[in-house]
Amino acid sequence: MSDAIGQDLERRICSSPRAPVLNLPLRYIHRFYHGIASRLRNLFYRGLGVNIKGYVWMRAIEIPFNWPDITLEASVALDRGVTLLCGGPVTGNKLVIRTGTYVNRYTIFDAHQRLEVGRDCMIGAHCYITDANHGQVPGLSVKSQTMQKAPVTIEDEVWIGSNVVVLPGVHIGRGAVIGAGSVVTGDIPGNAVAVGVPARVLRFRE
Ligand SMILES: CC(C)(COP(=O)(O)OP(=O)(O)OC[C@H]1O[C@@H](n2cnc3c(N)ncnc32)[C@H](O)[C@@H]1OP(=O)(O)O)[C@@H](O)C(=O)NCCC(=O)NCCS
Repeated sequence: MSDAIGQDLERRICSSPRAPVLNLPLRYIHRFYHGIASRLRNLFYRGLGVNIKGYVWMRAIEIPFNWPDITLEASVALDRGVTLLCGGPVTGNKLVIRTGTYVNRYTIFDAHQRLEVGRDCMIGAHCYITDANHGQVPGLSVKSQTMQKAPVTIEDEVWIGSNVVVLPGVHIGRGAVIGAGSVVTGDIPGNAVAVGVPARVLRFRE
């Protein structure tokens, strides 16, 4: 079958009202595969020492080390490419993501002291959230210096748009919204809508 005929057939099948019936088995296979994979990841990371409190929906995430430093509450959802990093010695208490929070694709959490994300938050794709900077004492390489740490708290029901950077010491209040592409360098009050580099309050949710 030539490409043209194949494409025409595909177009006609996909635009047909019967398409949902035809692809139903594939949809079940897709759902089944991802369900099993997610459950195996729960078992795998639990085995490595991550504190998983209930079932966490997990696509292909990455947790490379310091597994006992991480707590994930039930009904957290971590999409593909989400990376959970904890640096320094294991303390058992560096990164907490509370129940009902969803993290979109390729977002990185980089915790060295304490990074807490509240309940029912929505974190966009490609964000970077950290509680540490490298030291910058002159005359020494940045690489050789100890990290400067300050805890980050993101309260419940916060929505962080895509491509946002959250820097050390930041507190984002309950129900705040952070616009896409913002760099959050200071505290944001609850229910504020903040945007820009650095993020400034645009208005409050009504
Ligand atoms: C923050 C946001 C919710 C604000 O939406 P809004 O209240 O409808 O705001 P408006 O579009 O009316 O914009 C108001 C002003 O803020 C500016 N603004 C809006 N979003 C901005 C952003 N992300 N960065 C910088 N400025 C922004 C607008 O340019 C406008 O400025 P002006 O008054 O000088 O023209 C929205 O812009 C946003 O960034 N959404 C995130 C989308 C996203 O990442 N989705 C992923 C889903 S997880």
